[in-house]
Amino acid sequence: MPPSTALIIGASRGLGLALVKVLSSRSSSTNPTTIFATTRSPPKQGFFPKGVNVIDGIDVGTEGAGEKIVKGLKGEKVDWVVVVAGVLKKETLEEPNWEDEMDMYRICAVAPVFLTSALVQSSSFAPHAKLILLTSEGGSITLRTQNEGGGMFGHHGSKAAANMIGRLLSFDLKEKGITVGMIHPGFLITEMTEGMKEHYKKGGAITPEVAAPVFLDFVESLTIEQSGQFWAPNGPKGIGNAEEVLGKDLPTPLQVPW
Ligand SMILES: NC(=O)c1ccc[n+]([C@@H]2O[C@H](COP(=O)([O-])OP(=O)(O)OC[C@H]3O[C@@H](n4cnc5c(N)ncnc54)[C@H](OP(=O)(O)O)[C@@H]3O)[C@@H](O)[C@H]2O)c1
Repeated sequence: MPPSTALIIGASRGLGLALVKVLSSRSSSTNPTTIFATTRSPPKQGFFPKGVNVIDGIDVGTEGAGEKIVKGLKGEKVDWVVVVAGVLKKETLEEPNWEDEMDMYRICAVAPVFLTSALVQSSSFAPHAKLILLTSEGGSITLRTQNEGGGMFGHHGSKAAANMIGRLLSFDLKEKGITVGMIHPGFLITEMTEGMKEHYKKGGAITPEVAAPVFLDFVESLTIEQSGQFWAPNGPKGIGNAEEVLGKDLPTPLQVPW
């Protein structure tokens, strides 16, 4: 079933914006979806499709962001909450960056706990709701290899932490009937990966417009029995080390190892 109400946290560009657009295009008079989209800065008029409810001023890396979102929901209960907001800053052992690391952990790993807590405390989840965290195959310890090398401490570390947070939240939320999923959306052609353009072709990169419908279909199919798991709806495509580590002929969607 498509959601009656969806909340996309971090919708100003990239995958978040594509999710809002596809949800909006799928909404119909027989199966309407009320969409809430959060941004940090106020969007220009007409930026989002008609009917989308914008909650701006939401920086998930600050305390109280969850409470601000709850206020913006105006009592509406949400079927799908998708935490898209994320940040990637490259690092090496020679040049680690304290502020960048703090940002990545705050936004990718700390924020989901506080956002979810605010939504739970305010009873903003609808019965049988789904909570989806955009993590990354970069957060899989199993998929890291000597060939690939080290570095990327803040990004991969904070995404591994986000996978752990999602797993723990799935236990907290099970008795409420809320399904929690961690998702690697594929290798996406967005601002986030601008510095990796030379890998787009070999890495099977896709646009957010291509990724979003597959992502939404997968979320629709997720069941409470899968709560607390880590999935790649596009399968091994967009996971650079998948074949090297996991072997050939992998299924799509693929359950990603921790
Ligand atoms: N791109 C990939 O290949 C890839 C692969 C695996 C996982 N992911 C994950 O998928 C998600 C979406 O990625 P993307 O490629 O669409 O990224 P993107 O184009 O760089 O967009 C990032 C989004 O996060 C928002 N954001 C960043 N910091 C925020 C903060 N402190 N508070 C609120 N919002 C904030 C941005 O808002 P502003 O416009 O205000 O900055 C923007 O809407 C991320 O979590 C990313 O880690 C991406």
